Amino acid sequence: MKIDTKRLERSIEELGKIGQTPRGGLTRLALSDEDKRGRDWMVTRMREAGLRVTVDQMGNIFGERAGETTRPPVIIGSHVDSVPTGGRYDGQLGVLCGLEVIRALNDRQIRTRHPVTLAIFTNEEGARFQPAMIASGVMAGKIALEDAYNARDKDGIRLVDELERIGYLGAEPCVARPFRAYLELHIEQGPFLEEEGLSVGVVEGIVAIAWSRLTIHGVQDHAGPTPMRIRHDALVAAAEVVAGVRRIAREIAGDLVATVGNLVVTPNIVNAIPGRVTLSIDMRDPRDPTLDRARASLEAIVRDAGEREGVRCELEHYWRVPYTPFDRDVVDAVERAARAVGARHRRIRSGAGHDAQYMAVIGPAGMVFVPSRDGRSHCEEEFTEIHDIEYGANTLLLAALDLAGPA
Ligand code: GLV
Ligand code: MN
Ligand code: MN
Repeated sequence: MKIDTKRLERSIEELGKIGQTPRGGLTRLALSDEDKRGRDWMVTRMREAGLRVTVDQMGNIFGERAGETTRPPVIIGSHVDSVPTGGRYDGQLGVLCGLEVIRALNDRQIRTRHPVTLAIFTNEEGARFQPAMIASGVMAGKIALEDAYNARDKDGIRLVDELERIGYLGAEPCVARPFRAYLELHIEQGPFLEEEGLSVGVVEGIVAIAWSRLTIHGVQDHAGPTPMRIRHDALVAAAEVVAGVRRIAREIAGDLVATVGNLVVTPNIVNAIPGRVTLSIDMRDPRDPTLDRARASLEAIVRDAGEREGVRCELEHYWRVPYTPFDRDVVDAVERAARAVGARHRRIRSGAGHDAQYMAVIGPAGMVFVPSRDGRSHCEEEFTEIHDIEYGANTLLLAALDLAGPA
């Protein structure tokens, strides 16, 4: 029992053209026209494969392949949105391998006890609307539907209005649904599998993630006549915070990672002292108490930077997901499958967030990782060798079959 590698390669090529960048990457921001075209392409393929397609209130797409019984399904999911100038594997590979699993079952007319459902989640990336994984978060009851609907992009456009505009504001309630298991194949986005010459990672859990937003209110003024001694420069305070965030990671050491990835400077011209800066802080660690310590350090750094420059700082901790271990039985099923397909594999922890993290709140979840070339992702250079993808997709197929049970 195997997937059709050539067919999977063709799907990766075809879907990868929607939102393709000149350097072979992908810009398919959530609920953009490109996202709509990506979704439409997927829905067409899902219907061709005989799936019953529904869309929920958050625009999550589900395609069900009926089982012998009406027991809860095995859900295979991921996302088709991308970060700006991202790659064509993050998310997309998971839904295409899920589609290929369904097609492989169809080819051999395999019947399963539990239904097998393919899921595509809205705005996994959190690049356009914050936070990330917003739609699985609503489904898990961790984010209020109203709050998700009112999330705004950098131009002030509301998520719900974009859902409606692209035709994916569905009627199905976005609430926890029972499932036999949730499976997600994804690129590792780190260096370990490649360094160790392995094709498959059996994911044991996902790190805790904390996102904060800092707004610094300085005093906008002229860059020429204003002497240095009377300035209150929001960007100078921001620079201290950026360096401080790096210092937190260095001092706590271990597994903590900390990033300032977004900085908005106002008015952002040559000859004005910056009056306002907003910046993002992303911190992650497998241990929740370590993340608490990092957060306390961040607060102290912000306080000091504000006092030194005489500026007002508003720090908002607006998103937190705890360390999430995956279900032992699902992890074991993925490991058995990796062994059965002959993939060189090992257990691994995810440093990136995935919808599986919220799905694990609702029911038994697990993931399959495949290597990332040079460990890179969220960039146009993102790449995974097809022979590794083949091992990963076959692992996904066998794990799904195992969990869905024979008819
Ligand atoms: C999602 O890509 C995340 O881990 O931020
Ligand atoms: Mn992803
Ligand atoms: Mn991503």
